[in-house]
Amino acid sequence: LDVSDLIWPLFVHPGAGSQAIPSLPGVDRLGTDVVVDAAKRARDLGIPAIAVFPATPPELKSADAAEAVNPENLVCQTVRRIKAAVGDSMGVICDVALDPYSIHGHDGIVREGDVVNDETIEILTRQAIVQADAGCDVIAPSDMMDGRVAAIRDGLESAGHTNVQIMSYAAKYASAFYGPFRDAVGSKGNLGGASKKTYQQSPGQADEALHEVALDLAEGADSVMVKPGMPYLDILTNVKQTFGVPTFVYQVSGEYAMLSAAGQLGWLDRREVVLESLLGFKRAGADGVLTYFAIEAAEWLSKLG
Ligand code: PBG
Repeated sequence: LDVSDLIWPLFVHPGAGSQAIPSLPGVDRLGTDVVVDAAKRARDLGIPAIAVFPATPPELKSADAAEAVNPENLVCQTVRRIKAAVGDSMGVICDVALDPYSIHGHDGIVREGDVVNDETIEILTRQAIVQADAGCDVIAPSDMMDGRVAAIRDGLESAGHTNVQIMSYAAKYASAFYGPFRDAVGSKGNLGGASKKTYQQSPGQADEALHEVALDLAEGADSVMVKPGMPYLDILTNVKQTFGVPTFVYQVSGEYAMLSAAGQLGWLDRREVVLESLLGFKRAGADGVLTYFAIEAAEWLSKLG
């Protein structure tokens, strides 16, 4: 396990200063005045990439999630400012999905109660292009629509972004471990108890993950992701062994919350369990881990090193 294995997902909000997220103790939504310094700190620690997630003000949310394709939205502005500061010394990853922007909290467009696949793909492709225009290095579609990787690849090529990579959330399960993330981006209330089970995978399905990965690779994904992490290590190993492609894993918000809470209560040793969980991902076959512990783990690892 090395600092170069870590990818740091961070939350941004449009105001100043840091905002605490109660279900993610120790993880803040970063304000526009602090986010660039935070990114530089990650870079200085040797973290190769960050992933930027926005908390969109309620008044900018809509049924068609139009703010997702606004070239001046919070993510695009943040990416421009971070890239201006760090250049090529650190990669920036942007999520492609509509949930931070939609009034219903779903990752796609909803018609008569259902998320509609093809109409969603059109807007996701436009979202990917505005993010690439802003300077994002890696587009990470987390929406789980069918056929979106091919459409996004085509869109990026037509817009001249031939070097922008696609890291596809290929095996993404409909998981209760995403709860604190939905608090962080403010989509939980919008979702109002609805589930994403019509487009994310069923936790009992193993083979379907391989099918989804095969499709995304055939459509042009440069790397794939398995998510959540710890309850799905079997999937991670299977994907890595079957395809041998760059394979990432997301230690999601609920996993962070669990380890953090047990550490706070003194029931587990935070440092030991965090490093053990990250090492476990490496052992299972991950080429890199998205983790909210990235900064802390990088500090521990560099002192160890
Ligand atoms: C949404 C998205 C989610 C996460 C990353 N992108 C949540 C969801 O699918 O509801 C979860 C990450 C985490 O829990 O840390 N497209």
